[in-house]
Amino acid sequence: MTTRLLVTGAAGVLGRYAREGLKDRGKVLRLSDVVDLGPPREGEEVVQCDLADGKAIEALVCGCDTILHLGALATEASFDALLQANFLGTYNLYEAARKAGVKRIIFASSNHVTGFHPIGKELDDKAERRPDSLYGVSKCFGEDLSRLYFDKFGLETVCLRIGSCFDEPRNRRMLSTWLSPRDFISLVSKLLDVPVIGHLILYGVSANRDVWWSNAHADFIGWQPQDSSEPYRKSIELSEQDPAGWRFQGGRLATVETSA
Ligand code: NAI
Repeated sequence: MTTRLLVTGAAGVLGRYAREGLKDRGKVLRLSDVVDLGPPREGEEVVQCDLADGKAIEALVCGCDTILHLGALATEASFDALLQANFLGTYNLYEAARKAGVKRIIFASSNHVTGFHPIGKELDDKAERRPDSLYGVSKCFGEDLSRLYFDKFGLETVCLRIGSCFDEPRNRRMLSTWLSPRDFISLVSKLLDVPVIGHLILYGVSANRDVWWSNAHADFIGWQPQDSSEPYRKSIELSEQDPAGWRFQGGRLATVETSA
């Protein structure tokens, strides 16, 4: 269905997975980041710009029908920094998307929107949001903004509350929260292909043994994660002491003091 897919934050960890994993969909990939992405490869367009620059984002979005919005500060930061990249950047993107008639955005939300729920409690899309950081609050803002743009303008969004997407899980928490790169790509591909999706909240997590999140409400998209953190359990448990005070799903972000 996609003719031109815009990927913001394309120089980052997930952006690099997306650049590789989504390249053979037969559609143009427009890759963007505030940092240099190198020259475009076949089937790519590359645009370097800042999400906080509204005019630049209008030009960036023009001609795209779907967006994978990864660009952001991806962890806790000062409010001023988050204000530019995450709050203003997401607003600029949605406003440009509305004007350009974009059909669907996959918004990289985060498990940190519910990070103050205790470890082990099962959550789904209806769970109360309990952000664990200003970063988490910035993702709550993006989720609410996307709801407004769906209800008012019909712009579809999947808010993907990503767990921990890296090559391998790195600690005990990630044994529950890990999303493998392969599962990330298969999930995004599915979300791009489903004909009608409306406004959907999903957790992005692999088939780990002790998952805290349920996507049962979204069975209709037909996605099954293939990977699990289980093969990494032994080495992680041997090498890592139980981190004291990690009572909350957000882990470290629920314990570090916010830098103002
Ligand atoms: P990352 O930090 O590796 O990549 C983010 C990219 O956004 C960077 O390349 C950065 O240059 C770009 N960016 C930052 N500010 C920008 C601005 N003002 N204008 C344009 N580009 C800007 O982060 P990662 O891990 O790739 O995450 C991607 C998205 O997924 C983020 O929105 C993050 O919050 C979200 N996420 C990622 C998780 C993970 O496990 N990797 C977990 C939960 C959410």
